[in-house]
Amino acid sequence: MPRHIGIIMDGNGRWAAGRGLPRFEGHRRGVEALRRTIRAAGDLGVGFITIYSFSSENWTRPPQEVADLMGLLKRFIRNDLADLHRSGVRVRVIGSRDQLAPDIRALLAEAEELTQRNTGMTLVVAFNYGSRQEIASAAKRLAQRVARGELDANAIDAVMLDAELDTAGIPDPDLIIRTSGEQRLSNFLLWQAAYAEFVFMPMHWPDFDRSALEAAIREYAGRERRFGGVTGAPATRVAMIGT
Ligand code: FPP
Repeated sequence: MPRHIGIIMDGNGRWAAGRGLPRFEGHRRGVEALRRTIRAAGDLGVGFITIYSFSSENWTRPPQEVADLMGLLKRFIRNDLADLHRSGVRVRVIGSRDQLAPDIRALLAEAEELTQRNTGMTLVVAFNYGSRQEIASAAKRLAQRVARGELDANAIDAVMLDAELDTAGIPDPDLIIRTSGEQRLSNFLLWQAAYAEFVFMPMHWPDFDRSALEAAIREYAGRERRFGGVTGAPATRVAMIGT
């Protein structure tokens, strides 16, 4: 069983276009698929799922679509937060909050605060997230510590940079699933996915369900992970990123 699954929820627009529906309907049905997936992952005992909900590049979409996606996030938190909390889900948000509207920032903070002591599955919401930006910000913070004389530049290593990322404290994804048949990472968890297994599924995101999740996990379970070695897995993540 993968401990952490990252999901690129792709194909909402094509799902809608294929049915002669507006793109918004694809995103709306995408939220339903998300609910099913969170429930199924919790039942299966997955520890962490990270969902790519809005990328830092998604701002280039038409303003109405950006507004629709913001509205869906708000509705998702308002409608589902109490249920998630009751199920013991802990919510973490990764990505830059700087460009987000104050009401969205407040909702994201509320979701994190309310659920921070929960011990069930962690739902990591990647919102206004871009991996290159995340790595650049982490590098900038380390550079600032060097400039202030608090850190020796020679001491900087992968473990230190890892601890500066938005995902600090979250284990690396074991499995990354992308729907819609596209086979790329699109600026999602570039650093963290160093040893992830990828499963690309032909279906569009609104059609994703429990059986699709189980199929992806079965595919993952059949893979041999070597982490750059010859066989078996390293004892710790630190050992892995230190090599
Ligand atoms: C990709 O489909 C999906 C997104 C850009 C956003 C993912 C969002 C959701 C599943 C719903 C919103 C959920 C939250 C929590 C905000 P696409 O539009 O790129 O599809 P296409 O490639 O077929 O056009």
